[in-house]
Amino acid sequence: MDFSSRTPGDLSSNPVAQAIQRAAGKGILDLTESNPTQCGFHYPPSLLDSLAQPDAFTYDPHPLGLPCARQAVAGYLKAKGQKVDAEKVVLTASTSEAYSYLFKLLGNPGNRFLVPTPGYPLLEHLLRLEGLEMVPYPLRATPNWPVDLEATRKAGTAACRGLVVVNPHNPTGAFLSAADRNFLGRLCEENQWAYISDEVFSDYAYPGHAFTPWTPSGTLSFRLGGLSKSLGLPQLKLSWIVMDGPQEALAECRERLELVADTYLSVNTPVQLSLPQLFKSTDSFQNQLLKRVLGNRQFLEERLQGVGQTRLWPSQGGWYALVEIREKGDADDTIVLELLEKHRVLVQPGAFYDFPEGCFLVLSLLPPMEVFQEGVVRIRKYLEKA
Ligand SMILES: Cc1ncc(COP(=O)(O)O)c(C=O)c1O
Repeated sequence: MDFSSRTPGDLSSNPVAQAIQRAAGKGILDLTESNPTQCGFHYPPSLLDSLAQPDAFTYDPHPLGLPCARQAVAGYLKAKGQKVDAEKVVLTASTSEAYSYLFKLLGNPGNRFLVPTPGYPLLEHLLRLEGLEMVPYPLRATPNWPVDLEATRKAGTAACRGLVVVNPHNPTGAFLSAADRNFLGRLCEENQWAYISDEVFSDYAYPGHAFTPWTPSGTLSFRLGGLSKSLGLPQLKLSWIVMDGPQEALAECRERLELVADTYLSVNTPVQLSLPQLFKSTDSFQNQLLKRVLGNRQFLEERLQGVGQTRLWPSQGGWYALVEIREKGDADDTIVLELLEKHRVLVQPGAFYDFPEGCFLVLSLLPPMEVFQEGVVRIRKYLEKA
């Protein structure tokens, strides 16, 4: 049987994935866990009561989302200081689905999208599933991971249709600087590429840092967010796109996006009707999560002090920590395998995120404090022996 090349030719799992499978159920300390519902956060039992409202028995779909739900998203963003017109909001079942809608809207098979590297590994798959190609544009390995502007300009070709930014970035936790976003925005305007801004972690700025919403005005732009991160409930399956751009192009974009969304009608009615209620809990959830992330990060910072060969990279927001191991000489997946098999602690290798050089470990900062701390103590012991 022939299958399309949208899924990979080789389905075998990599050595780290195989080792994780072997270790399953053997009491591993998992410092990769980034599913908030598995991390011991408190969700008030009444939080989901509004999903059971009687209006949810009626199915009256709107391709771009129910007006009351789009209004609720605009209201949520307004409370965050962002002026958003509900007419420009489009609902999807997840941020991954939001990407898939946009890639269908903007790209023909073989077209390309510029994607920051190192970065979120799912993007390459999401593009490939639409018959599209990823063109990496490099971030420079210095604090705040600025964009390599010249390399980015050179990476663009006539086949490009858009550029993705992730703000704050996953896994570096860096916010896009004003200089970088102005440059990237101008590049998109000059080439009439779409500017896609993934803002799923924008609620989680660390003290002293802030998220600045921004899109270029001379081309189409799309900002992405969703409940999986803003309320820690990925299973509710509700994300949003905020589209913007020059009036005429935006009107056509809206119509075409409506057609894509109408083909699937994937967002469920109960969650849309519940949105006004659900958004009332975002502050308390986000405070709880940020406290966990900052507490775990502080512990990590303290424990790595004095371990000569390691460096915790500075970060400005998000859920991840980046640890660089400088003098060991091993590849990051070798270290990850040793940590897993000999010390029963799981972290991700930088290779998963395509770091071009250096040896990086990526840790989720979400695990419960006891799990995280014990995991970090084991990592320190391992590094000290090295
Ligand atoms: C940068 C980034 N974008 C998008 C997503 C996907 O979010 P969703 O669960 O809404 O599909 C993730 C998930 O971790 C992510 O890290």
